[in-house]
Amino acid sequence: MACTCVVGLQWGDEAKGKIVDILTDQHDFVVRYNGGANAGHTVVHGDRTFKLSLLPTGVLKPHVRSVIGNGVVFYPPRFLEEVANLRTAGVRVGENLVVSDHAHVIFPYHMEEERLNEAGAEQSIGTTGRGIGPCYQDKVGRIAAVRVGELLYPDHLRERLGVIVPRKNRLLRGLSPDAKQFDADALCRDYLGYAEQMRPHVVNATQLLHDGLRAGKNILFEAAQGSLLDVDHGTYPYVTSSNSSTAGVWSGSGVPSRKLDRVIGVIKAYSTRVGRGPFPTELNDDIGERIRRTGREYGTVTGRPRRCGWFDAVAVRYTAAIGAADEMALMLLDVLSEVDEVRIAVAYELDGKRIDYFPSDAFLLERCKPIYETLPGWRVDVSGVKRQADLPAATRRYIDRLSELLQLPISIVSVGPDRDQTIYLR
Ligand code: IMP
Repeated sequence: MACTCVVGLQWGDEAKGKIVDILTDQHDFVVRYNGGANAGHTVVHGDRTFKLSLLPTGVLKPHVRSVIGNGVVFYPPRFLEEVANLRTAGVRVGENLVVSDHAHVIFPYHMEEERLNEAGAEQSIGTTGRGIGPCYQDKVGRIAAVRVGELLYPDHLRERLGVIVPRKNRLLRGLSPDAKQFDADALCRDYLGYAEQMRPHVVNATQLLHDGLRAGKNILFEAAQGSLLDVDHGTYPYVTSSNSSTAGVWSGSGVPSRKLDRVIGVIKAYSTRVGRGPFPTELNDDIGERIRRTGREYGTVTGRPRRCGWFDAVAVRYTAAIGAADEMALMLLDVLSEVDEVRIAVAYELDGKRIDYFPSDAFLLERCKPIYETLPGWRVDVSGVKRQADLPAATRRYIDRLSELLQLPISIVSVGPDRDQTIYLR
């Protein structure tokens, strides 16, 4: 039995999907434990590209059990659409895909609530608009929440929505007189329809995973977003509403974190961020634009241009510690081939003082100026390189320096989206 977690150590979009895809064959289960359809995983299989949002990347391998854990917020129409798209593309999806009966359900009123909150706020978060935050709010608030298992009981669901929807309508009207209003009966009909299609997939996922552990199965945990967006440990309040670091594994799946044998922290060779919030190494210049263009840094879910900047070793040192990373996978290294020199933030200057820790408040991080170390660029296309020894000396130096600064081995280097554009360093 072995448990591995693949987790992003920056602000998401670190190309975790590729690493999960590579590791899937060595595992019996692949588990998503946080977030929802705010995530975007792009997986390239030969000439085919799959874009997944709510489903675990493991679903592309029908012999592996893909699990949507209790920590996920679940939007049934999106689930059914992604399943239908995969089937159209010839991927077999059946009972290999399961969803926890304890996952919380997103309804359209969550999205309306988010839209009104974001539109009205002077300090909006810049969310993906998928209803993630309001659904987690209801989960913690308890009285207006619905879990996936409840969708399978028509009378019960009718009664619950009969109470919840009028409350929501009042709340939404309070936010704006023009707010959309929802009809409990119509929502109930729609969701019962989804539930019928979902029924074969709904299980007690925690029990399933514990049975797996007892039977010596291998489990791969797949984080969504990045650790700097973790609701407890990220750049709060500019974060998502779940534990996107490894902190979420235990609560979001029921498998204790101490069962994890291996944590692979995924990092990009530079930094990106979507939405608002502090970003000390952000580049608002030609270089930032070049990285965005070369790395095709546009949101998978929203299409928004991602903010781009240099690698931030202060931030990643912090998230690697929070997440108990054992090793790292360095992604998108080929993108930096376009620049003359590369920079790494090794410390910050905060109010005239040098600090080497990650400040705990976003408003302090906002005031931090990065202190950079500059290394020569390599100016060579590395996307075809297969072996570490064939990388240019300057590229190897960059990899070594990152590893040194983060005090962790880099075991995988990715130089392109394809599986064979991967260099194994150990
Ligand atoms: P929410 O998760 O939609 O509530 O958005 C909260 C913040 O997290 C926003 O800044 C989003 O842009 C960001 N975010 C959410 N999901 C992802 C993701 O998968 N990749 C990168 N950023 C994300």
